[in-house]
This record gives sequence, C-alpha cells and structure tokens, in this order.
Amino acid sequence: MTLLLGPDDRRELWRRLSDAVESYTDQVASLHPAPGLEPSAPSLDPAIVREFVEGFDFDHGIDPFELVDRVVEGLRTYQTQTSHPRYFGLFNPASTTMGIAADFLVAAFNPQLAAWSHSPFAIEVEDRLMRSFGRRLGFEPSAAEGVFTSGGAEANHTGLLVALESVFPQWKRGGVRALPGQPVLYVSTEGHHSVAKAVRLAGLGDDALHTVPVGDDLRMDIDALRDRVRADRGEGAAPFMVVATAGATSAGTIDDIAAVAEVAAAEGLWCHVDAAWGGAALLVPELRGHFAGIERADSVVVDAHKWLSVPMGAGMFLTRHPDLLPRTFAVGTPYMPQAVGGSPVDPYLRSMQWSRRFIGLKLFLSLAAAGWEGYAAVLRHQVALAERLRRELDRHGWEVVNRTPLPVVCFVDRTEASAEHLDAIVAAVVGAGRAWISMARIGTGQPVIRVCVTNYRTTEQDIDALVEAVNQARAA
Ligand SMILES: Cc1ncc(COP(=O)(O)O)c(C=O)c1O
Repeated sequence: MTLLLGPDDRRELWRRLSDAVESYTDQVASLHPAPGLEPSAPSLDPAIVREFVEGFDFDHGIDPFELVDRVVEGLRTYQTQTSHPRYFGLFNPASTTMGIAADFLVAAFNPQLAAWSHSPFAIEVEDRLMRSFGRRLGFEPSAAEGVFTSGGAEANHTGLLVALESVFPQWKRGGVRALPGQPVLYVSTEGHHSVAKAVRLAGLGDDALHTVPVGDDLRMDIDALRDRVRADRGEGAAPFMVVATAGATSAGTIDDIAAVAEVAAAEGLWCHVDAAWGGAALLVPELRGHFAGIERADSVVVDAHKWLSVPMGAGMFLTRHPDLLPRTFAVGTPYMPQAVGGSPVDPYLRSMQWSRRFIGLKLFLSLAAAGWEGYAAVLRHQVALAERLRRELDRHGWEVVNRTPLPVVCFVDRTEASAEHLDAIVAAVVGAGRAWISMARIGTGQPVIRVCVTNYRTTEQDIDALVEAVNQARAA
C-alpha cells in the first residue's frame, strides 16, 4: 500500500465516502443524538472507545475500504450527533452541503495560504469574504480587513493582541514589562471564557481580566463598566480594552454595543465585539437593530462554524483598522516568497498562523450557493422556531428566563427550579434519545435548562416533540 492509491481504487474510495456521507445525512435524525450520555450505552465507557481505536493495527497496512467503514462506524457510534435536528446544543450545527464539498476540495488541492503568490485564488476568496462581512458590520469597505481563524477562541486572542498593539505599541518590543501599569481589560460575567484564556496566553496574567456585572437583562452593566475603568485608572492600572458580547454563550443576550463603544471612546479603550455566534444575525435585516453600534467597534469576531453552519473550524476576525494586523503579526524572513506587486499583505504577516489551510472556502461556497437571502431565510426560520418554543413552554408551566431576539431559550420549571430537578429532566430527555439539551447557569448562577435552535434542518415538529419530552420528563 502506498500513500497514493491507484485510479480505480481512488474512484471506489470516493464513491464509498460519498455513500457514507449521504447515508449519514439521510439517517442522522434516526440516530441517538447523544449515545455517549445514554446510561445503558457502552460508549460512555472510555475503555470501550479506546479499545475500538486500538483495534487499528499500525504494524500492518489495513485495506483502505475497510478503514473507511470502521471510521464511519466509530463516528456514527461514538459521538454526540451535532447534525441531529434535535441537537439543541452548543452552537454546533449540521454542516452545509457546500461546506462539506469545500473541505473535500481543500484537502485534495491543499492550497497553502501563508503567501499570496502560492494561493492567489484562495486568498482573494477569503479577502472578498472579509470585505463582504465587513460591509455587513457597517465598516468602511476600503478599511475592513480581517483573517480567518480556527475559531472564535483564536479570533478573540487575535483581538486581544491587536488591542495591545494599538494601545501600547511599546508592548511588541518590551512585552508586558513595557506597559505603563497593570494592563486591564473588561468583559461581562456572561462573556465567553476564551477571553480569559487569551489573557493568559498573552502573558498578561489572570488578574488583568476584570469581569463586569450584568443587569437583570443579563447585558453588561454600563455604569458598572465606566465606574470600574475609572477606579482602575485611579489605582494606577492601565485599562486598554473592553469586550462586548453579542450573543452570549449561555443566554444569547446582546450587550448594548453602542453604549460599550461610547465608554471605550471616552476612556481610550479598544472596543472588541465577540459576536462569534450571534453575528450571523447581521444577515437578517430585521435583527440588525439589536447590534446597533457594532460599526463603531474596533474589531469583531464572527464564527462561520456556528450559526452559519459551515464545518469546523472557521472563525473570522475583522477590524476597521487595516494596518493593525500586520503591525501586530509581521515578522520578516528571507525564506518566504517575495510579495507580488499589488497583492494584499501576505496572510502569514497578518495572522497568528503561518502555514494555513483554505478555511474560507466552506463559507464562500455556502454563501454563494444560498445567497444572502437564502441564509437570511434559514436564520429567520430558526428565530421563529425559538419563538414557538417560548410560547409552548409558557403554555405548559415553564418559565423562560432569558430575553434575547436570538434562538437560545433558557427556562425553569415554574413550580420547582432546583438544579437537581432540572438536571434530572435534562438527563431523562437526553438519555432516552429524544433530544440533546443541556444545563447552564446564568446571571448570578441560576440553573436553567438551555435549548438552542442551531440546526437548519430543525422543524416545528422537532420543537413540539421537545416540549412533549420535557413535559413527560417533568411528570415522571
Ligand atoms: C460567544 C463565544 N465566543 C467565543 C467562542 C469560542 O469559539 P470557538 O469554540 O470557535 O473557539 C464561543 C464558543 O462557543 C462563544 O460562544
């Protein structure tokens, strides 16, 4: 067996792959959405999964067709089926068909996106997407600039580094020692923990992150932000950045971006918006108002692999300050190809990554096939499904406790809101394979059942079946 199969075997392999993908797509709704969580299922046992994986013998080449069959079996058996229409989970949607096609093409052609001269088509595709999404954000088209990342965590990390470069240009050379005081950035208590990780990765230390309380609406308390910045400055610290969350992970709430941008402008902070999940809503004109002020952000994160349903990983970092990415990331070297006159800055000079795969193609093909309108129709439908869910829950004695225009619904039982009670309901629904839902804690730690309509194949029947499942679990 060589690394390159012969042409007949290759054709047969592609045929089998496409059959496997097609039957998965066709049958996923009838699979258990979370086999690993079913109490009676063996897949929760790490020893069993490990034994299955150890069964692949590296000492002797295995027939490629058999390999594919066995891997497909592993994927069908030992994973939470995030493509299931009743997976109401953590922003992991089913992959778009064109996104799957894109990843197949990318693996085969394997363009290297470090330098423009190696992959001009791929880089122009990605830059076109950045301009298009920048326009959606309301950024000046000639200034909008960005890079694809592995996901939201890398994009938030990019935002932090760019903010440091912008506010403390001496940081690049002298590191944190060169800062005028303890650096401080702000995010609400509902913000995503990848910001905390980025702070640590940047060497700032956990103490640099100040969490700002939220109001009853679970949005950042703007007065508390302003007071905290001033108090920190008064104590000799060096505040430099604020992160507004637009579509919080647990409750889907959207900070008042305009107000955050106002404080940022007044206090000389970099304003970053983490719209990793919620940013997709900018494709739906009637939802745009909830993001008012996003055009004033210095940088924004939108993950295509969340609500835009392309395969993982596809994050986008966008900024309206085009010089800052190269200022932050460029390091010169003679062994890389020379820039071609008139081409954009090579991506390895404006990204955390060096060698890079063609991340943007899955979004490019999905968007080009669906069009803005096609995407908007799907997102609108999901928002309507969440509305239906809220109505039905209310009718059946549940209390929805989060307020958001986005399709995340957090709720409790009106008569008994303890974590144990809610946990038992979630376990019963998930264990019986009726849907995948989860527990979350919001605000001051209130336990809630969390449901996110994240799959474009979810229907009204799925919503009604979910309501029936939670009702029955509660009654039991
Ligand atoms: C609001 C928000 N920001 C950032 C992230 C991190 O994104 P990723 O998992 O793509 O790195 C998430 C993940 O769920 C998120 O919900």
